[in-house]
Amino acid sequence: MRTFSAAAFAALASTTLAAPVHLHKRQESLDISQTLQNILDNTHGSDLYTYPTDLTRGIVPKAIHSHNDYWRDVPFYSALSVGCVSIEADVWLVNDTLLIGHERSALTSARSFDSLYIQPILSVLRRENPITQYIQTPTRNGVYDTASDQTLYLFVDLKTDGPTTWPYAIRALEPLRQAGYLTTYTRNSSGEYITPGPVTVIGTGNTPLNQVQPLASRDYFFDANLALLSTTQSNITSYVSPIASTQFSRYIGSPNATTLDFNSTQLQTIQTQIAFAKSKGIGGRYWDTPAWPVSTRDAVWKELVGQGVALLNADDLLAAAGFTGPAGW
Ligand SMILES: *[C@@H]1O[C@H](CO)[C@@H](O)[C@H](O)[C@H]1NC(C)=O
Ligand SMILES: *[C@@H]1O[C@H](CO)[C@@H](O)[C@H](O)[C@H]1NC(C)=O
Ligand SMILES: *[C@@H]1O[C@H](CO)[C@@H](O)[C@H](O)[C@H]1NC(C)=O
Ligand SMILES: *[C@@H]1O[C@H](CO)[C@@H](O)[C@H](O)[C@H]1NC(C)=O
Ligand SMILES: *[C@@H]1O[C@H](CO)[C@@H](O)[C@H](O)[C@H]1NC(C)=O
Repeated sequence: MRTFSAAAFAALASTTLAAPVHLHKRQESLDISQTLQNILDNTHGSDLYTYPTDLTRGIVPKAIHSHNDYWRDVPFYSALSVGCVSIEADVWLVNDTLLIGHERSALTSARSFDSLYIQPILSVLRRENPITQYIQTPTRNGVYDTASDQTLYLFVDLKTDGPTTWPYAIRALEPLRQAGYLTTYTRNSSGEYITPGPVTVIGTGNTPLNQVQPLASRDYFFDANLALLSTTQSNITSYVSPIASTQFSRYIGSPNATTLDFNSTQLQTIQTQIAFAKSKGIGGRYWDTPAWPVSTRDAVWKELVGQGVALLNADDLLAAAGFTGPAGW
């Protein structure tokens, strides 16, 4: 069982990558010659055997949304280490600062949107986009070394008043914006355009739609309600909401506790919602899916993956990362 200690992540985040101790241990058990073992033991960290963007080497990105990401000991880096392509920060505006926490009582001045998300993401992206003599023009690689064009969805869940908090969130993105790391939207006389970037910001919670949808130029998007795309939110396009989400418990409900099957109404609702979103080029995500019992959680995940959700919402990242879904997942 892998666990994430704060120390392990501090090591991960330090500028000079330490020799990967676990790798060394693993190799000790290999049936190889002593000479080769010596080479393996003594070359870690040497210039020949490191490369600039190796921070996330070997991590395969997965269509997982790290739900309640800020609950983890080390937000963002935990999600990164298992390959989540989507994370979520709950932000509260307190005295002109955006703090992170699930509820007010969990807030501290050290845990800010900037310190827990913006700076760590920027730091990883700087590593994945090194400036070397081999680079002609600045690159815009994503956080994953194995899939550099994979964007990282950053859901910003506003907990305090939307119209006042959202402008602060937009301002907080400035370091990522300056570095050219945000996915952008432009509308002009020739049409609508998305320029993909390493990070795609999506406002959710109290985010005001009218501070996103009408703008002709922006580097943030809106989390529409997947269940309302065909009705009250029918004028929302993928240019506004690349991903739309809805509350599973409210719109679908639990499967049968004994058989773990969904009834025909539930299946129809999931199919219709996801298919409608897809027809508009929008990816679907359900939140508030059952986390327990594990058999129910897995039955729900399996159904959702089979139905083609864009992101699987997960509280247990390791379970989700190791989840074996239907073929193609
Ligand atoms: C917010 O600022 C006011 C005025 O400076 C101060 O009295 C108050 O303690 C601050 N609140 C928090 C939560 O920091
Ligand atoms: C519209 O925006 C796109 C994307 O930025 C750009 O390529 C195109 O040249 C623009 N067209 C006009 C007419 O400004
Ligand atoms: C979308 O529809 C809503 C509600 O019907 C309306 O208030 C809003 O102005 C529309 N927005 C656009 C961009 O058409
Ligand atoms: C299907 O399950 C939902 C949620 O438990 C329930 O509200 C609904 O009545 C059921 N429909 C049928 C046809 O069994
Ligand atoms: C769950 O399925 C079992 C077995 O088919 C059935 O007997 C039971 O009535 C179902 N429960 C509900 C709440 O529909």
